[in-house]
Amino acid sequence: MVRQIVNESQVSAASCDFPALGQITPSGKPLVYLDSAATALRPQAVIDAVVDAMVHRTGGVHRSVNYLGDRATELYEQARTTVAQWVRGLENEIVFTRNTTEGLNLIAKGWPDRRRVLVSATDHHSSILSWDPSRTVRIAPTDRGTIDTDRIEKELSEGDVAIVCLSHVSNVTGSTIDADRMAKMAHRYGAILVLDAAQSAPHGPLDIQQLDCDFLAFSGHKLGAPAGIGVLWGKAQCLQRLEPVFQGGGVIDNMRGEQIKYKDYPWRLEAGTPAVEAAAGLAAAIDYLRTFDQNEMISHLQNLRLYAISQLKSLSKIKLVCDESIEALGPVSFYFEGLPSHFIARSLSDSYGVCIRSGYQCAEPLHRFLGIGATLRISFFIYNQISDVDFAVGAMKNITRLQAS
Ligand code: ALA
Repeated sequence: MVRQIVNESQVSAASCDFPALGQITPSGKPLVYLDSAATALRPQAVIDAVVDAMVHRTGGVHRSVNYLGDRATELYEQARTTVAQWVRGLENEIVFTRNTTEGLNLIAKGWPDRRRVLVSATDHHSSILSWDPSRTVRIAPTDRGTIDTDRIEKELSEGDVAIVCLSHVSNVTGSTIDADRMAKMAHRYGAILVLDAAQSAPHGPLDIQQLDCDFLAFSGHKLGAPAGIGVLWGKAQCLQRLEPVFQGGGVIDNMRGEQIKYKDYPWRLEAGTPAVEAAAGLAAAIDYLRTFDQNEMISHLQNLRLYAISQLKSLSKIKLVCDESIEALGPVSFYFEGLPSHFIARSLSDSYGVCIRSGYQCAEPLHRFLGIGATLRISFFIYNQISDVDFAVGAMKNITRLQAS
């Protein structure tokens, strides 16, 4: 049965499913969590799945020929199927990683075409730093702080580009790229498109058939799964070419002297004993999200975002650093003139129980380009509701007023 996210009084049904939201913070106030772009809270269904895996299915995945080994292997491969269905890909195109960063690093180190890599200075440090700096070209943002697609095309047309790597949704501004258009552009010049989908994955299923990128990486913990499990999806022909970066148990079929026969992908890209409990948690997170109407989930998150933008604008000395368009997804960043962002975040947490993020948001080049210091960022997940925004904005009003007086 498909569940409704919010009722008429705008209360999120999902909020009851997340035990972390029941806690009273040291401020004496209940937790208001607006930092899901950093990491999302975990629903009870995920916690139960992880405990169940630990209690009933701890075994040597792909190794132990025994009852528990079989159960663990079945759980791990079932999780792969769940992820494949979620992104509309095939099971063998899903590589389990630790997180988005590891996925990007696997491509950076394992993609055999060693020509230039184009990245955007608007993006997360992982999208920028994963690549060999000697062949990485950082594309400066447009004056508005968005990805400069014209400049990317110009660099592509000059040739010698193997990879374009871009964030699907900015973790600072919430700007969303037209991935399909960027994929076509990269392909036209013989390059591949790698998408950092860390911030788009929490907004509903990613349809890789429609995105047409070549690789896509995301983290489970931003979807409500445990930390330590992520996904690298790749087109079959790309995974075929990707060289294993990590060597060890699980990647080979046999080793006769110097002769090594590697397993097929995705297994040859998953060295060592895999994180089976975390994989079970990721599958449970996806199954949990699937209990809601996916279009409603996206509109819920977009509505919260637009509402937050409208309310934040009422605060004095605020400067928004975000994409205000309706299509934008994800976080809303801002700062207060003359007030340190870490001070605001600390006061919100310590006095009001409101958790938001402060700092350079792992995107210092963008901040430098915009000529701004650390920012504040609020972000949403399925459990958030209008009242969270109202409470946080009211608290910021109090904090900034006290500082001004
Ligand atoms: N990449 C995460 C963020 O933007 C940690 O907060």
